Order: sequence, then C-alpha cells, then structure tokens
Amino acid sequence: MIDSPDIVAQDAPAQAVPQGAAVADVHTATASRNRHHQRWQELLHLNRDLVAQSNPLLVSGRLTKVTGLVMEAVGLRMAVGSTCWIELPNTRIEAEVVGFAGDRLFLMPENDVQGLVPGARVTPAEPMRAPVAPGQSQLPRRRSSDLARHLPVGEHLLGRVLDGAGRPLDQFGPLLESKSAPLQSRPINPLERAAIKEALDVGVRAINSLLTVGRGQRMGLFAGSGVGKSVLLGMMARYTSADVIVVGLIGERGREVKEFITDILGQEGLRRSVVVAAPADTSPLMRLQGAAYATTIAEYFRDQGKNVLLIMDSLTRYAMAQREIALAIGEPPATKGYPPSVFAKLPQLVERAGNGAEGGGSITAFYTVLTEGDDQQDPIADSARAILDGHIVLSRRLAEQGHYPAIDIEASISRAMNHLVSPQHFLQVQRFKHMYAHYQRNHDLISVGAYVKGSDPLLDQAIQLYPHMEHFLKQGMYESEVYTASMGKFSDLFPNEG
Ligand SMILES: Nc1ncnc2c1ncn2[C@@H]1O[C@H](COP(=O)(O)OP(=O)(O)OP(=O)(O)O)[C@@H](O)[C@H]1O
Ligand SMILES: [Mg+2]
Repeated sequence: MIDSPDIVAQDAPAQAVPQGAAVADVHTATASRNRHHQRWQELLHLNRDLVAQSNPLLVSGRLTKVTGLVMEAVGLRMAVGSTCWIELPNTRIEAEVVGFAGDRLFLMPENDVQGLVPGARVTPAEPMRAPVAPGQSQLPRRRSSDLARHLPVGEHLLGRVLDGAGRPLDQFGPLLESKSAPLQSRPINPLERAAIKEALDVGVRAINSLLTVGRGQRMGLFAGSGVGKSVLLGMMARYTSADVIVVGLIGERGREVKEFITDILGQEGLRRSVVVAAPADTSPLMRLQGAAYATTIAEYFRDQGKNVLLIMDSLTRYAMAQREIALAIGEPPATKGYPPSVFAKLPQLVERAGNGAEGGGSITAFYTVLTEGDDQQDPIADSARAILDGHIVLSRRLAEQGHYPAIDIEASISRAMNHLVSPQHFLQVQRFKHMYAHYQRNHDLISVGAYVKGSDPLLDQAIQLYPHMEHFLKQGMYESEVYTASMGKFSDLFPNEG
C-alpha cells in the first residue's frame, strides 16, 4: 500500500505577527507547501506506473452453436470484424465476428472447423486495450477502419507469395519485418484524388491503341470461363510499365496459383510482384480477406509514391464469397441469390484502387468478372460494369477461331480514353470500330459470296482493311508491344488520314 501524503500543513492560516518573524514564517510555509506538492506528485507518478503495468482483463465466452459455416458464441461483447480464438484441447481455431443478434455473436472460422465441441472457450484475439495513462497520448487508431485487422506490408513482400492472412506460402521463410496496415482503409476524399491524365503502357497492342488505359484507372475483364482472362492478365503483369505489381488470386483453382507464378509471371515478373492467393478451397472469409489484403498491399505501395498495377482474379469469386457469408448469417437474398451486402461490398473494394492525392502514386487495377454464356443480366457483371472505369470483353467466338487475345473490340470500352489520347486518334478509333463492326455484320454475306463489290463503299473499304485490322489485333502470349509502337502501327492502318 502507498501511504497518502500528509495534507495537514496545506491550509495553515496566516496570522498577524511582527514583521521580521512574518518573513521567516512565510518562507517556512512556502517550503512546506513545496514539499507537500512534491509528495503528491510522486504519489501520482507511482500510481500512473502501476496502472500502466496492470494486465488487461481477459474475458471469455462459450461456443453454443455450429451450423454449416456459422458459429454462435455467448458471454462476449466484441465488435463486428474483430478476431477471436476458439480453444480446443490441443489446438485453437481463429474466427472472425461477422454479426450478432442480441447477446449472441456470429462467428466464422478462418479455416477448417474440424474438432469443435459444444461449450468451447472463445477468447478475443486482441486483449482489451488498457486505458490511456496520464501523460500518454491517445492511440492513433481512432476510427472503425483502424480497428480492423492489421496484416504485414512493406518492401520485403516483393517476390513473395502469401495467403489471405499474410502467411508465406513460398519457401523463403517467415516475414521478418513488422510493418502492418489495416485491411480496411479510410475512403479517399474524392476531391483529393488526382485525375486520370497519363496513358499507361500495358504491352498489349489492342488495349494500348483502341482501349487506352490511364494510370489510376480501374478496368474489368469480362469473359466466360476458359476464354483467356488469366493469360491476358499475365501478359499485362509482365509487360505493363509499373513499379510494383500486386496479384490477388481469389477463389480460383489452386493449381492455377502455381501456374500463374511459374509460367505466367516468371522469375522476372515475380521480382517486382507480391502475390496473395486465396484459392477456391479456402474459407469464404479467407477469400474476402485475400482480396482486401491484396488491395491493402497495393495501397501501401501507392502511398510510397509508386505506380502500382493491381490484378484481381476474380471479382466474381469475391462476390460469391460474400454471398456465402451473408446467406449463412441469415441475410435474405435479393438479386439472383445475391444478398444486398454483396452489392455494397463491391464498390467498397474497387474504390480503394485508383489514384492517390495529386503528385502521389497510383493503383491501376484490372478485375476479372466471370460472365457465363454472355449473360448480360448477371447481377455481378452488371454491378461491376457500373462501378468500374471501363470494361474489356473477351469473346468465346474469337477464342474459338484462335484469335488471341480474344478482345471483343465492339463491346469493350475505356471510359477515360478521351482524356488520354489526341482527338484525332480518338476519331480514328471510332472509325476502326465502325468498319470492324460493319464487316462483322456482313461477314456471313461476304463468306458465301453473296456480296457484290461496289454496292456499299464502306463495306468495300472494310473488306480491304479487315485482314490488316485482324492482324493488328492479334498478339502472341509472349510478345510485347510498347505504347508508342502500338500507336504507330495503329495510325499506319489509316495512311491517308495523317
Ligand atoms: N494469347 C493467347 N495465345 C494463345 N493461347 C491462348 C491465349 N490466351 C488464352 N489462350 C488459351 O486459352 C486457354 C485458357 O486461357 P485462360 O486460362 O487464360 O482462361 P480463363 O478465362 O482464365 O479461364 P478460367 O475462367 O477457367 O479461369 C489457355 O490455356 C490457352 O490455351
Ligand atoms: Mg483464369
């Protein structure tokens, strides 16, 4: 115990005494008061140190129900989005709070739930924060996004392959540095974002010239399965002029992760890349987290002033993971089985990419979107088209003809393009599309020989130009074409309109 200081001397009343004695008494009173203050100060300091050393209370709850993916726990008050441990005899399982109803918390496991028993102890992964001690400043984490889970970020991630929880999947050992960033970031003030002004060289001729992408633009790559999305993304990963490439492989086949890294990225590409892989066999929570983590890493590099290329394969699997979670905790499905929260999550993720403040770095992002059977009504494709700054549509018909990359020029658009290229080039692109479309519409007629030359001057011109246009659009998987060369070859298609 600490003795309380003597406070009797504090208010000694001043009495009328002779002059000389009065001066001496005043000195004595001041000295005693100073001593008194000092003792109080010492006591307060001691108490402050004791409070700072105290252990935070460890609270725990119990597991009451497990159905499918969702678990319920009682006896705990934890924020949605926070992490907890479920204790088992030999191990423990990490879970996240995804919702609550009354006193019951809904939890979702990060991995497998094998071996859970009724009544298992549930403890928060982060202990309660100690109160701020006097003299100490408030923790900088003030907003709800700051309280979100923190995962490793930094230069040391370059060349590494990680899972959705920031654990290395490659053979290069543990991550040693300790810098971390929250999985949910604060939204950027839209007025502070730099505009998309500078064209980005993606190394693919058809995109560079006909669908010019700007630094900080967010594009969708729409296609059915097996049409060449991954190969095209790989080409862009290898040839785009970016400082850092962040690849999020979300919900795709596990086999493809290795293929993407060894065959598509290669040693050279991997050196400037960070790969976050959460394939289809991981929990839906891990898949959501993987996409958020890849975005967090991209944001980190952008905030260092770097130009980042973010590749996410696929946005549809991300939406499906959110659907799994939302349906499991009882959210009603709205559009084609997708609950409303899915449509809220998509823009939240996509809006994190893009340009930072003026003069800072950028995140140019490509998200793949699965459209089965050219289903334009697919709610995810619909929603993605509305929130992205353009879409590149891949066509199965072209792929079947061996026309790679199978970009459907007529159906694709880059919404920032008119700010990036000259008005003359923009007009030529419209002309190219017009002629290409005109030829396609009359293709059957031409191929059966039913078209009589001279009856449609535009079609005559299109027939003459078509082989050149087709040759221009095709590009080998391991062939790159820089921006200036793409633009040069494009204007060579229209020699008379210099
Ligand atoms: N540029 C190209 N040149 C030659 N062949 C290609 C090209 N692009 C794609 N292909 C062929 O198409 C196949 C499928 O491509 P890819 O794996 O990229 O499709 P995907 O759309 O990602 O499919 P999934 O939806 O199943 O992930 C490849 O294995 C390859 O044979
Ligand atoms: Mg693929």
